[in-house]
Amino acid sequence: MPAPLRLGLAGLGTVGIGVVKIVHDHAALIEARTGRSVVITAVSARDRSKNRDADLSGFAWETDPVALAKRDDVDVFIEVMGGHEGPARLATEAAIASGKDVVTANKALLAHHGHALALAAEAKGRVIRFEAAVAGGIPVIKALTEGLAGNQIKRVMGVMNGTCNYILTRMQSAGLPYDQVFEEARQLGYLEADPNLDVGGIDAGHKLSLLAAIAFGTKVSFDAVELEGIGAISIDDINHAADMGYRIKLLGVAQMTGRGLEQRMTPCLVPADHPLGQLQGGTNMVVLEGDSVGQIVMRGPGAGMGPTASAVMGDVMDIARGVRLPTFGQPATTLASPIAAKVATPAPYYLRMTLLDKPGALAKIATAIGEAGISIDRMRQYGHQGIHAPVLIVTHKATRDDVNNAISRFAATGVLVGDPVAIRIEEV
Ligand code: NAP
Ligand code: HSE
Repeated sequence: MPAPLRLGLAGLGTVGIGVVKIVHDHAALIEARTGRSVVITAVSARDRSKNRDADLSGFAWETDPVALAKRDDVDVFIEVMGGHEGPARLATEAAIASGKDVVTANKALLAHHGHALALAAEAKGRVIRFEAAVAGGIPVIKALTEGLAGNQIKRVMGVMNGTCNYILTRMQSAGLPYDQVFEEARQLGYLEADPNLDVGGIDAGHKLSLLAAIAFGTKVSFDAVELEGIGAISIDDINHAADMGYRIKLLGVAQMTGRGLEQRMTPCLVPADHPLGQLQGGTNMVVLEGDSVGQIVMRGPGAGMGPTASAVMGDVMDIARGVRLPTFGQPATTLASPIAAKVATPAPYYLRMTLLDKPGALAKIATAIGEAGISIDRMRQYGHQGIHAPVLIVTHKATRDDVNNAISRFAATGVLVGDPVAIRIEEV
């Protein structure tokens, strides 16, 4: 029997304690499946006196995660502290320099430093695994790097922030405005310490950039992700979109185009009857499209102790079995520097605006849209309020620049009340 695989666990919060529980509860199963035992030898967190609902008495304690990362009795360093600088980065670098394999749930760290860390690890013959960093319990990294390795990936899409999906679906089901549901999410403990990581699309953007690197063989380029959060989504838009057969999602899309790598994490309309449109609450969904396989839809819990620790342990067990893959599915030295596509692939747009209800108003708006080179697909006018007429328009495919051009022309019509709303309709 090979020697036990020894884990050093930095972080004893939601994910870290989940790992402690699986290693303890499933020791026999892990050994049966990997052919060796997996043990935790040392742990680190900030506050040693905190009650953590787990027996940590058998593990050495390190106050400094960097010291933990360098210990001789650690083979695999598990980083589940969070943050893309400070202890998480320093300890991960130290672990690699000391010849340890690394398993992390930290999407922020890899979105910012993934390429440099992968280069360092591969130069040392070490692996970095990060299944838990993207879509929690959904084994999407494994699907891309292994099961779909023989495909040219065409597109990666996903709802990868459970908090945003909770907010948007709760707004619709309860008919509540954004601010009220945001507050509800805060009280339920769903929001990150910095809520903008969730509702600003940053957390989901981190995840998308990691999937794009694997899918398209490029260096992680989080800075090139077009980001727009959900803070401006109103209950009116959610209801109008529903009336027209759509749902609003914070949707990530990455695809390689003739213009370069397109990466977007923005609110989009998707058809209500597509699995993405039907996704409720905090659940995540990733859609992968390959040239041979076609479209694959993966759905599951994107966060929480059990699902995230499950993903960490899948990585640990691969290392125990001797599975050693490059961090992003091909050697880091071969990853291309992506050119960021400046303009997104054209798509239909949903436009909502309020007009003065007088003769010729709609014609003036339609003319402005036509002058911007956009063709109208569908139009609706309903729910008049006094002299104001709400108008909904679905366009044929257009670029965001064309849509902005049309909107800039609306002001001169003299019939527009307030600001129009424009949301992309993603063809899924
Ligand atoms: P958490 O509950 O806040 O736990 C963080 C842990 O790290 C705590 O035990 C904390 O110590 C420890 N820590 C923080 N700074 C430290 C330092 N300087 N030195 C030593 N220990 C330190 O966080 P989490 O939810 O488990 O998330 C961990 C990582 O997993 C993050 O990167 C997160 O983005 C990622 N992730 C989380 C989830 C999820 O559902 N929670 C899902 C996917 C990915 P104390 O306990 O003493 O404060
Ligand atoms: N804040 C994240 C979410 C946690 O809501 O999905 C999991 O990464």
